[in-house]
Amino acid sequence: MKKYKDIAGDGGSNVHGQVAEQLERLRRRLADVRAVIAVVSGKGGVGKSTVTANLASALAVAGWRVGVLDADLNGPTMAKMLGVRGERLVVTADAVEPPASALGVRVMSMDLLLPGDATPLTWDAPSQDESYTWRGTMEANALREFLADTRWGALDALVIDLPPGTDRLATITALIPDLAGTIVVTLPSDVSHLVVRKSITVAQGGRAPVLGLVENMAGLFPGPDAATLAAETGIALLGRVPFDPALAAAADRGEPFVTVAPASAAARALTEIATRVREALGRAPGPGRS
Ligand SMILES: Nc1ncnc2c1ncn2[C@@H]1O[C@H](COP(=O)(O)OP(=O)(O)OP(=O)(O)O)[C@@H](O)[C@H]1O
Ligand SMILES: [Mg+2]
Repeated sequence: MKKYKDIAGDGGSNVHGQVAEQLERLRRRLADVRAVIAVVSGKGGVGKSTVTANLASALAVAGWRVGVLDADLNGPTMAKMLGVRGERLVVTADAVEPPASALGVRVMSMDLLLPGDATPLTWDAPSQDESYTWRGTMEANALREFLADTRWGALDALVIDLPPGTDRLATITALIPDLAGTIVVTLPSDVSHLVVRKSITVAQGGRAPVLGLVENMAGLFPGPDAATLAAETGIALLGRVPFDPALAAAADRGEPFVTVAPASAAARALTEIATRVREALGRAPGPGRS
């Protein structure tokens, strides 16, 4: 299989054929995944990764078989938040076995592949001038490889943690047309709402249903009400997760807050969000999946 470094100039090597074959492999790999959900926000730092890790953990506590794909290739945090950093990936002839968190959440992240803490992911562009346009293409290629090569096994849900940026959803929907739903995360600030409103428009423009809005770090700022944004855009408010330093500390330790401090308001909110997601997916599983 050719990798991104080889793709500049086909040289008669049938890259198109290889991509088609990889997409077919991706489709087969995901055939046993009941629902693929993307966690998105145009705004950075709002808690997409925190919500992803805890939603996945809460779904696992409820008995669901869950995987997490860290689609943030340059700032991967899922291995850290789910406590699998440093675990070895088991590579077999045709697949990579993702490590599992203490609750059994299977995790695939660029963080598990890069050799050291200080090593960033870089794309080899034919010239630095082209590196910007190159990056989008290479990101899509890398994610396609991730999805095609990871042996998730049978899952009830695969939760995808996206990097910030409203446009990032398009990369995922190009690879997984039958996404079961998107979850949009915001902070209670005008600045966040300004950007997230656009993210909701993009999410609503896709084929996948918008499962709802999560207000994270609720109470931290005296900002606008997420319920108003949800009502104005016609989506559900899945819940409000209060600002809680203990939640950030648990993420830093790689522990799922929903089981570390289940009685806390933040854990209860996250568990409630997971319940809503389970209900929404139970009613409307992704098209084309069993
Ligand atoms: N409700 C909360 N209370 C306290 N700290 C939080 C809360 N939610 C997230 N954090 C902390 O805020 C920081 C940013 O959160 P996180 O990494 O989940 O955001 P993100 O949206 O994924 O960021 P990026 O856009 O860079 O991917 C992290 O250190 C996280 O632990
Ligand atoms: Mg993140």
